[in-house]
Amino acid sequence: YPPKSQMEEGSVLRRANCRAKGGAPGFRVAILGAAGGIGQPLAMLMKMNPLVSVLHLYDVVNAPGVTADISHMDTGAVVRGFLGQQQLEAALTGMDLVIIPAGVPRKPGMTRDDLFKINAGIVKTLCEGIAKCCPRAIVNLISNPVNSTVPIAAEVFKKAGTYDPKRLLGVTMLDVVRANTFVAEVLGLDPRDVDVPVVGGHAGVTILPLLSQVKPPSSFTQEEINYLTDRIQNGGTEVVEAKAGAGSATLSMAYAAVKFADACLRGLRGDAGVVECAFVSSQVTELPFFATKVRLGRTGVEEVYSLGPLNEYERIGLEKAKKELAGSIEKGVSFIRS
Ligand code: NAD
Ligand code: LMR
Repeated sequence: YPPKSQMEEGSVLRRANCRAKGGAPGFRVAILGAAGGIGQPLAMLMKMNPLVSVLHLYDVVNAPGVTADISHMDTGAVVRGFLGQQQLEAALTGMDLVIIPAGVPRKPGMTRDDLFKINAGIVKTLCEGIAKCCPRAIVNLISNPVNSTVPIAAEVFKKAGTYDPKRLLGVTMLDVVRANTFVAEVLGLDPRDVDVPVVGGHAGVTILPLLSQVKPPSSFTQEEINYLTDRIQNGGTEVVEAKAGAGSATLSMAYAAVKFADACLRGLRGDAGVVECAFVSSQVTELPFFATKVRLGRTGVEEVYSLGPLNEYERIGLEKAKKELAGSIEKGVSFIRS
């Protein structure tokens, strides 16, 4: 048998030829933190995505085992594993999309901001690698606190001279997934038929569901609005407490991350009308970053949508969200600048 690496390269080549003959386009995707609670199911689901031709799995532990396991799945993507920082550059070179779930999760009693101390440094190092090896890649940032890690990534890219605001997206998809689920429960609908815009950021009061804009158009009692807003804002804590020290949401997050990554890849492919919520560079409010619906295209975020009409309850929520977000964004920016 040829050495494994030659067999892999042969396989990539065969698939590249297939594409040249008119097959489906394939994208190269890296997952950083691929051996973790989110990383493993995320890797499995990305291996099942027909838009992915090459899947790089990077972690500082256990990457070879996860890679061997996932690589036996009889789907199209070629899987390669990368272990430890000396292999980070190889993991990133040539990637179209980089998904980052690396970092520590919460335990009961912690806020997402309590993770800043450890995760800020991890995100900084990984983004320095991206700036060097795949500066044109779309980046999906999952590591918490997202409200600060996205500004950190932006500052790292600015420093390296590679920053493109259209290509950096904080993943808030889990808030939308939860909102769709909880609202569907209240309305007695199939969650797949429900669309709830969730704006602001990804922590506590910064998570702002716009229940006045739910599709299909629906009305709620004040009691339902209070219940839904509270449950959506605290969905992460609900899981952290249920897991009782064993981490935070991993399976629903992997599902949400794949839903979001797939939207980014469909945008890259040139599909029309791909719209999702994400925490991005924004002029919708006075803050430099904010989550709203965005349209995804060949260059990443091609349009950032405004908030639309808000009711009084949502306007009050927005002011609270902006106040907290301003501090979290500033904390991320000054981590790199100072
Ligand atoms: P986990 O501890 O199970 O996995 C994290 C993985 O990151 C581990 O495999 C670890 O080895 C790896 N890692 C640590 N340092 C690394 C480095 N320098 N380079 C590469 N990999 C590194 O945690 P998890 O449950 O998968 O959560 C990961 C992160 O995602 C946490 O910060 C969590 O708060 C966050 N999260 C975000 C959302 C969201 O909606 N954005 C949802 C859930 C979790
Ligand atoms: C979530 O919303 O589930 C994540 O941000 C993880 C957490 O710490 O709550």
